[in-house]
Amino acid sequence: MINIMEIIKILLVEPSESIGEVITKSLQRAYNADVIFHKTAAEGVERLKKGEVFSLILVRNQSDETPEIPSDQIAAQFLNIIYDLSLKTPLIVIGEFEHTFKKYALVSERLRIEEINRLVLKALGLKKEEFEHLKLPDYIAFPVKHFYLMNVSPCNVYIKLVKKAGDEFVKRLNFNESFNKTDLQKYEELGLLDFYILKDEYEDFMNGLFHQTLINLKKSRTMEENIEVVGDSFVLGTNLMRSLGINANCIAMVDQTILMMKNQIQKADKLGPLLKKLLDDKLSYSYRHSYLISALSFSLLPKMEWGSGDQQNILLEKICMVSYFHDIYLDDEKLIKISDLQEMKAAGLNPKDWDLLNNHANRAAVLIQSYPRLPQGVDLIIKQHHGVSNGVGFPLVLTAGISPMAIFFMVVEDFATNVLAMPDPPENLASSMKEAIKPLKEKYQLPSYRKIVTEIENLVNPKK
Ligand SMILES: [Fe+2]
Ligand SMILES: [Fe+2]
Repeated sequence: MINIMEIIKILLVEPSESIGEVITKSLQRAYNADVIFHKTAAEGVERLKKGEVFSLILVRNQSDETPEIPSDQIAAQFLNIIYDLSLKTPLIVIGEFEHTFKKYALVSERLRIEEINRLVLKALGLKKEEFEHLKLPDYIAFPVKHFYLMNVSPCNVYIKLVKKAGDEFVKRLNFNESFNKTDLQKYEELGLLDFYILKDEYEDFMNGLFHQTLINLKKSRTMEENIEVVGDSFVLGTNLMRSLGINANCIAMVDQTILMMKNQIQKADKLGPLLKKLLDDKLSYSYRHSYLISALSFSLLPKMEWGSGDQQNILLEKICMVSYFHDIYLDDEKLIKISDLQEMKAAGLNPKDWDLLNNHANRAAVLIQSYPRLPQGVDLIIKQHHGVSNGVGFPLVLTAGISPMAIFFMVVEDFATNVLAMPDPPENLASSMKEAIKPLKEKYQLPSYRKIVTEIENLVNPKK
């Protein structure tokens, strides 16, 4: 069984091809790990520089020196890059090694696979028992909530029964069987959060999933229903792209989701009812957060003097894309809410979450570069959406030296986060918004940021 959402990804650098293969196979077998194997430090370091995130890095101390090629100081290069990027990814070094920055574990030169496997578990804070299930047949777990916009099962669907003698899979939906969201929510209320698909039927399942979801999205509905349906597809699209990357099948669905967000915001004659629906906390936080940023931007963009008429439409489209993708790698509400360095330090994050948050903007920008027909500048705004030009971490002090739309997005996002954090019920939206603007006035003193705060203030307190 594989849970596609929780794969352990290991970067392995080992100069010997055959040893590398043995280690790779062993890690795949024991932990179902996704092992990226390179023979030189440079190739691995490049991945880290691009913002790729690993659960663990496992490297040889150094390569042997030959008359032609000097020794590749693998471990030292990784310690340096880990330090430079402030990563907290655990590092295991194979062979004798010494370094002043002592944050690594050692495996002896006389390589024992068992010892590597044991250290990997220790470094990841996992227990051996957690991998017992890997001995089972090939089922892939898939969250029940990802079925919300389907009506007919594209293949047989199973549930897992945990038994003493070993887990058992029982068929719950037959191929072609009908169901609806209410049925699915009943399963979830019973604590059944995942369905299982046979590995061999995965492709049929995915095709059915995207096809049915897209058709369902296009049905006409009331505004309230639409917000809910678009929310379901937002969660589905972002989760899948986070784990699988941008795949051709999901693009039509994601395009449709973003288009519907934008159209709905433009069509609403008053934003009030739309915003109130967004305060409904049954919808996912990241969806409400992204939608609120887009809806606020619709009213604020015309004040920025960046163009009129059709240009406003393009600007809103960009903001909708940015808000859909900017935090795609953050699946935890707690991380989405963090907006500066102090909050990051105060949050008590584990190493994995620290790395994730540190690199999420840069990674999302890299991901979206392969998205077809990308409006110009969207990747740059995503990269800079926390105010740092290279998209890593948060700035020590705010700078005006980033894209004006990134500055805009940053301030509007901060405001949206504050609005969603207000304890008042949706009926008190107006007063919540007034309260939410107060911290922004303190925080944003630079003129380019200040202007946006002023416009938000005018929006919240319209002059009679
Ligand atoms: Fe965000
Ligand atoms: Fe972010």
